[in-house]
Amino acid sequence: MEPNLTQIVIIGASGDLTARKLIPGLLGNDIAGAFDGPVQVVGVSRTAMSTEEWRGELEEWIDEDALEGWASFKEGVHYHVADALEEEGVERLKERLDALCEEEGFGPRETGRLFYLALKPSLFAPAVKILSEQGMLACLPDPCAGWRRLVVEKPFGVDLESAEALNRSLLEYVREEQIYRIDHYLGKETVQNIIALRFQNAIFEPLWNNKHIESVEITVAETVGVEGGRGAYYDESGALRDMVQNHVLQVLALVAMEPPNSMRAVDVRGEKVKVFRALGLMTDEEVERDVVRARYVETGDHVGYLEEEGVSSDSHTETYVAIRAKIHNWRWSGVPFLLRTGKALERRYTEVVLRFRTPPLDLLNGPPVGGNCSLRPNALRIQIQPEESVRLGLLVKEPGAGMVMRPTTLKFDYDDLEAGDTAPAYQRLLLDAVEGNATLFIRGDEVEEAWRFVDAIHDGWERNGAPLAEYDIGTMGPDEADGLFRGCEGVWGDGVSDV
Ligand code: BG6
Repeated sequence: MEPNLTQIVIIGASGDLTARKLIPGLLGNDIAGAFDGPVQVVGVSRTAMSTEEWRGELEEWIDEDALEGWASFKEGVHYHVADALEEEGVERLKERLDALCEEEGFGPRETGRLFYLALKPSLFAPAVKILSEQGMLACLPDPCAGWRRLVVEKPFGVDLESAEALNRSLLEYVREEQIYRIDHYLGKETVQNIIALRFQNAIFEPLWNNKHIESVEITVAETVGVEGGRGAYYDESGALRDMVQNHVLQVLALVAMEPPNSMRAVDVRGEKVKVFRALGLMTDEEVERDVVRARYVETGDHVGYLEEEGVSSDSHTETYVAIRAKIHNWRWSGVPFLLRTGKALERRYTEVVLRFRTPPLDLLNGPPVGGNCSLRPNALRIQIQPEESVRLGLLVKEPGAGMVMRPTTLKFDYDDLEAGDTAPAYQRLLLDAVEGNATLFIRGDEVEEAWRFVDAIHDGWERNGAPLAEYDIGTMGPDEADGLFRGCEGVWGDGVSDV
């Protein structure tokens, strides 16, 4: 049987996401021969433009080494001027899509359609309503030739209430299995490798619990501020909603979840939801003690957050947040999950550090070293970006007389695989959406549970007067965040050292 046609319909195609991420991702899949059958891309936007003009605009974003592939891929790239929020616009779009698939020799019912909503979040529900009313989203349950799926960008709601409302509105018109809520962190190779590392190696899983692990740190540090016209969006959002609710919690879920029964969406997402349900909802006292929020201030030549374009001058939004979270389940009870993310920091890096407990007896050094705290020699660092590696910190004997210890590292680096650059996140996720594999997308209940955790913190801030620390641009955040490590748990990693 000949493979069917896939039409990828980007609604809101004139935004920069399309040119920066979506088209290069789709092209990357085409060059890699990843698509099963022919693919057409149809960009839809109100901006008047011809297909030729659009292709020309997109081409400026294509990497030099992909230009050859682009020359043939672009033949399937079309532009359609329409207001996708108006009945007439959608009727015309339907005609255009039907005509395009017939040109390829396929009827609409033999063509799978992926509607990518690259729209303002407030337009998700109205767009889906009108697409559905025009019969554009009706399909048999997957797998079927004429499938219809939706990809929805973040932010999915701004709190639990709005996320629930959005889920309800979408579900009036489509089934949950048709909705692909995207979190691009799940498309990163190194994030997926957390699953491989844990479940395809026998040595880690027996240690992956509160008996052996003392703390888990997840850092998502960025050097960028909110330049590039993002100030107004960011000011409404802040670090907690922009990064923790989605990316940070998704990484946490993969680190903390139980082994799923299979890699099918139903199993993996089911396990992640269980982690979110076990995340302790913070009381106001806990928010005060275990959460630090801060914003960057003018440093040297760099303007502070309050002076950024689009940011309100009396803003109280955080650009940094650090949280000492707890997971109330059998595996993780008592292990702090130290989460932090921020903008305008010293170094851009994302990593997970699992710090193991001390050996039960310090045979070689006698009394505890490092003040009252024994040295914790073992940490597993999973570097997600820009370094892509897994490193295990060990102590070994320094050669020579006596028993002097020296820290060292066992290291796996993605570069060692000589497999070329890892594919960009959007490339992988777009392919999965086309193939109907929802494992790396967020289910409706998952997004709601993540909001529940975040809302408790937000509400606590509101009731506690939202204390806001400050940090200089180019540092690793406010000193207050150091206080989230207690007793002998150590300190935040620096993104460089292994112990
Ligand atoms: C986005 C956030 O979801 O992720 C941005 O809205 C952030 O504020 C970005 O900069 C970070 O993504 P990455 O892949 O560059 O780490």
